[in-house]
Order: sequence, then C-alpha cells, then structure tokens
Amino acid sequence: MSVLDDHMVDKHGRRMRKLRISLLDACNLRCLYCMPEHPVFMPQKDWASAKELMHITRNLVALGIEEVRLTGGEPLMRRDFLEIVDELSTLPVKKLGLTTNALLLAPYLPLLQHTKLQQLNISLDSLNAENFMRITRRDAFKTVMDAIFTAKTLGFAIKINAVIMKGVNDHELTAFVEWSAMNDIPVRFLEVMNIGVMKSQFQERFLSAFDMKTILKEDYQLSRLNDTPDSTSRNFRVSNGAKVGFIASESNPFCAGCSRLRLTPKGYIRPCLFMEEGIDLKALALEDYSEMLPTLMAMKPIRRIPHQPQPMYQIGG
Ligand code: 5AD
Ligand code: SF4
Repeated sequence: MSVLDDHMVDKHGRRMRKLRISLLDACNLRCLYCMPEHPVFMPQKDWASAKELMHITRNLVALGIEEVRLTGGEPLMRRDFLEIVDELSTLPVKKLGLTTNALLLAPYLPLLQHTKLQQLNISLDSLNAENFMRITRRDAFKTVMDAIFTAKTLGFAIKINAVIMKGVNDHELTAFVEWSAMNDIPVRFLEVMNIGVMKSQFQERFLSAFDMKTILKEDYQLSRLNDTPDSTSRNFRVSNGAKVGFIASESNPFCAGCSRLRLTPKGYIRPCLFMEEGIDLKALALEDYSEMLPTLMAMKPIRRIPHQPQPMYQIGG
C-alpha cells in the first residue's frame, strides 16, 4: 500500500474502491423516469477524450480504485467506446463493468469478449413489448431482449436493472421473478429516485423496496444472501430459484457503506451522485492527487442529500 492510499479513505472510514465513469449524457431511449421527451445534451466537444479518461483512470487505479464501471447516458453511443474499453483493459482492475440499455449491444459482444469488460448491467423495465415502449418511448424491446440472450450465451456476467414504478410496471414484479428463475439471470429492482423529471410525479409513482418485497412474499419465500458491505443492493434467493436484489436508494440509502467515486463526461470527479460540485482531473498529474484527494473526500456526504437538481442521465446512473 502506498502512502497516498490513505487519501482514498474518508473520516468515516469509507474506502473508495469503485469508480463510475459516465461517458456521455446522451441516450437512444427516453425513459419516463430519466429524461424529458426532448432533452438537451452537452456538446460532444465537452466530453473528456479517451486519452484523458485513461490518464485519469490510471491515476485513480494507482491510488486504490479496484472496480470501474462505464455508464451514461448510454455509453455504447460513444464512437470511441471500444478504444476506451481496450485501454481500460490494460489496467490492473479486478472488475470492469458496463451499464447499458443494450440497444446497441449485440454487435459489440464478440468484440468485448476479448476485453476485461465482462460484467453487464442491463436496464430492462418491462418484459412486455408495449409496456417497454410506454416506459422508454422507443420501439426497441426485441433488440434489447435479443442482446440479453446473446450476451448470456457468450458467457458474460449479466444483471438486469428494473426501475419499478407504481401503476407502470409494478404488476410485472412476479413476471420478472419467473423470468429470472427461468433464464438464470439475476434481476435487481430499483426504487425510482426523486430526481430530475421524476420530481413532479414522485409521490404518485414511488414504490418502496419494502412494498415490492411484500408483493413478492404473497407468492414466494425470500432468503437473504450475504452481500458485500458496500453493495448497493440487498440480494435474495427466491423460492422458485430466482436471484433478486433491491436497490432502495430512497427508503434505505447505502451512504454509510459507499465506496464510489464518479467521473462526469467532462472529466470532473464527484464525491457523490447527489453533489453538483466536482474537480477537474483532466490535467492533474499523479503527484498532485495527494493535495486534491483530501478536499474531495471531505466533500463526500455521510447521508443522502435530498435534492439533486440535475437529471440522472447527466450524472450517470
Ligand atoms: N430513478 C432510479 N433510477 C434511475 N435511472 C435513471 N433515472 C432514474 C430514476 N429517476 C437509472 C436507471 C438507468 C440508469 C442509467 O439510471 O436504472 O438504467
Ligand atoms: Fe437512457 Fe438509461 Fe435514461 Fe433510459 S434510464 S433514458 S436507458 S440513460
């Protein structure tokens, strides 16, 4: 362990070991809970380049980051996506993951097989083509499902993320549990967050993880699995064989065990999803991190900040 390593631990003893890199804010879906119908995205010239991302990530990995996840918007929309993955694959990280809506995933899969990127978190909020279209405002259900099954066949580690909303897809909870058991793919149910476009309809749409479990317990037994202390989801084995998780960002935030830093598309590091402040790392040399990190770590909140003015696609789910 280098001396600098200690700078990645905050005064509450939280060690930063995961980095989420948001590659861009744009997306090819328009999920109801995430985006307005006509969002305004940042100009491409503002994105940190593949080279800058690599420079930043290499430094953070040298200081203790062990897992890297690429998010967006939709990360596969970046034309230099493969170049970024190839370069990140040369770093000594334990895990390299991707959060994607899988719309553009299928053609990438054979190419990704030879990289370190083996963990795919795929957003899928409905198992029904019409409901999928209602939620995402795009006709892409079949493309997404095909990509999921191809990825599974090719041996990628897949998790499905489903944001659950009252009156929108809460009636599909059981279907998801059946689908998870049948296909041997874990599904994680996310509480919708009171953020961005959701703010005006949050009361109406919010369903707590507790209420989701209550619904499922009518038909199944759930037994708790052992999660890592910094896991965002509480995971369960279901009596039908399914593996499900609940991400209770609103009702039971996981701040106390948080081990995450976030990099914005512009190359700024943020201590927390719910903070707008960040520090530009594009031109920072490794020697200068010992000065920057204490400032960053001191900014990291210990409790969930109630308001985030920025929508999710701009900060990287
Ligand atoms: N609540 C919960 N999750 C959200 N995401 C986007 N907006 C919200 C929200 N309001 C998540 C989705 C998506 C990822 C990019 O961000 O899970 O897959
Ligand atoms: Fe795109 Fe994900 Fe937002 Fe849906 S939730 S619009 S897939 S970034």
